[in-house]
Amino acid sequence: ARPLVIAVDGPAAAGKGTLAKALAAKLGLPYLDTGLLYRAVARRMVNAGLDPAGDASVEAQALQQQDLARSDLRVPEIDRGASLVAAQPAVRAALLDRQRVFASETGAVVDGRDIGTVVFPDADVKFFITASPRTRALRRHRQVAGETPLEGSALDAAVSEIVARDARDSSRETAPLVQAADAVLIETDGLSAAEVLDKAGEIVALHHTRR
Ligand code: C5P
Repeated sequence: ARPLVIAVDGPAAAGKGTLAKALAAKLGLPYLDTGLLYRAVARRMVNAGLDPAGDASVEAQALQQQDLARSDLRVPEIDRGASLVAAQPAVRAALLDRQRVFASETGAVVDGRDIGTVVFPDADVKFFITASPRTRALRRHRQVAGETPLEGSALDAAVSEIVARDARDSSRETAPLVQAADAVLIETDGLSAAEVLDKAGEIVALHHTRR
């Protein structure tokens, strides 16, 4: 049988990464976080003194050969920069092969925005993971700032930033963030990571019995 490919798409900080990582461990599959590719392109632009809204095709090409430096990729400047370079068709085209090659031999759990729609339209199982902007802003804050509370105008600003990034990702012409017709929707408001993993695990098991 061909290797199992599981697509996990959805907006920022909905719990995609947490689910995809846990699912990969459970199934013994490699995990690919495709957001890191766009983040690494944005990081190259910023480090070169370039505006990530400008043409990033050279930086995306240069990334082909290179290992992803995992440092300094999850900072607000790069959250924004990644969604700006990700709107560029030439950048997306340059990163497509790398994503497909990664999963072709062994299968993989792959998280991103366009995995079930563009990168692996034939994925065995597709998930669309989402939560309200408020839940997502609070989760993202907890990841970076621990238990420091987020409230009042700081919470409002974090929610606006997430809504703006969703809008950029959903409204772009190339590979917009959209739920694939055959994706299973999981809304994670009020669910723990373990509960989300249970739900997703059941759906993957169902797929196995049908294969
Ligand atoms: O998932 P993460 O927040 O790390 O992704 C950063 C940005 O990269 C997203 O806001 C999105 O613009 C872009 N991205 C994308 N397609 C993917 C993964 C990420 O456009 N498959």
